Amino acid sequence: MKLDDLVSLAKRRGIAFPSSDIYGGFQSTWDYGYLGTEMKRNIRDLWWQNVVQQRENVFGIEAAIITNPAVWESSGHISNFTDPLVDCLDCNGRFRADHIVDDTCPECDSKSNFTEERNFNLLFKTFVGPVEDNANVAYLRPETAQGMFVNFLNYQNTIRHKLPFGIAQIGKSFRNEITPGQFIFRTREFEQMEMEFFCRPEESVEFHEYWKNERYNWYIETLKIPKEKLRIRDHEKDELAHYSDATSDIEFDFPWGWGELEGIAHRGDFDLSAHSKSSGKKLNTLDVESNTHFVPHVIEPAVGVDRILFAILCSAYDIEELADGETRTLLRLPSAISPVHIAVLPLSKKTNLISLSKTIASELRKFFRVEYDETQSIGKRYRRQDEIGTPYCVTVDFDSLDDNAVTIRDRDSMKQDRIQVSELVTYFKNQLRI
Ligand code: GAP
Repeated sequence: MKLDDLVSLAKRRGIAFPSSDIYGGFQSTWDYGYLGTEMKRNIRDLWWQNVVQQRENVFGIEAAIITNPAVWESSGHISNFTDPLVDCLDCNGRFRADHIVDDTCPECDSKSNFTEERNFNLLFKTFVGPVEDNANVAYLRPETAQGMFVNFLNYQNTIRHKLPFGIAQIGKSFRNEITPGQFIFRTREFEQMEMEFFCRPEESVEFHEYWKNERYNWYIETLKIPKEKLRIRDHEKDELAHYSDATSDIEFDFPWGWGELEGIAHRGDFDLSAHSKSSGKKLNTLDVESNTHFVPHVIEPAVGVDRILFAILCSAYDIEELADGETRTLLRLPSAISPVHIAVLPLSKKTNLISLSKTIASELRKFFRVEYDETQSIGKRYRRQDEIGTPYCVTVDFDSLDDNAVTIRDRDSMKQDRIQVSELVTYFKNQLRI
């Protein structure tokens, strides 16, 4: 699969557009179209169902994006959240030193002609209130995680649940990345889904393993990503983030090779201890048996919604050779992610066909994501639905007016079935498992 072809499909069909498109775009920033918006919502919902709703000990939070800057001083982000930056002395391009392969400039191919590495802080700065001076500096959050740590006591006091428990959040994060790019893989504004799981220190290694397996299986069982496109990789000591004791990445086989999809970090007591020290508040838990306090350890599964969407698009994208020598492009999306479940298509624009089709579409819309389309030839409409990953098309033809049946076309096999209109809801509930 060529990345350019996928990006072009995404733009052509309304999944994602370059942001500020009419002004020529803006630095690898993307806006999601009506289909991408729906797909992201499906990803968020599935994650929330699995990580929060279906568990008795994980609780949701919506914390602020702009916080007291003390949060980022204590968390270590102001001093440590940096990437190594180099400039190419030939083309003046700026790059992350750890992204340069074989000492060669990715822009102009010149070799070994870079400035010394210097650390570049990724925090986005802003000012709160009307005066732009140092006293009013604040930061956009670079991870949602700190919202959970600084609320640890609030949660411990309100959730009526003992350790272990988790606090989960979905929301935007911001990083002034040196080299954003590769479509929605790395952007400066992105959406994270993170969960901080607080547990007793002696149980933390076991819970780290537990969450690695839970998260890995979710990609396979719920998102239907093929096993061979996923792997788990443990970080080397020198790759670990400043807060981490151990991290394992779930990696995906992106068009350019293996890349991080999700990180599952063992953060130890780093964050709670750091915030205790700086705030003077005791972020700890009472061990009832020994009547002593201890600082919980934290396991953190953290992933980007945009990155999951990208991985799903990559694994769903296919170009199939047809018997007549033609090809068709399709997204073999799992139905849980498909922005449209069913397309209802009248064979012609005759009034009575349109009227029956619209009635069918509005009945199905009570249960499924439905699109109604009467434009262009039926062949073109099928191709379009294939490209946006719609699992089923319902075609209403002239016989439908007499036999009250319609033709259902399956996206993947292109097999066609004739089904009574009265049976459609049951049929699709079974097929789509909704
Ligand atoms: N709280 C831990 C944390 O933020 P991370 O590995 O830096 O860890 C977690 O980020 C996940 O967020 C990544 O695995 C990736 O899916 C996503 N992510 C990170 N930076 C991103 C970026 N610039 N653009 C898109 N997604 C990003």
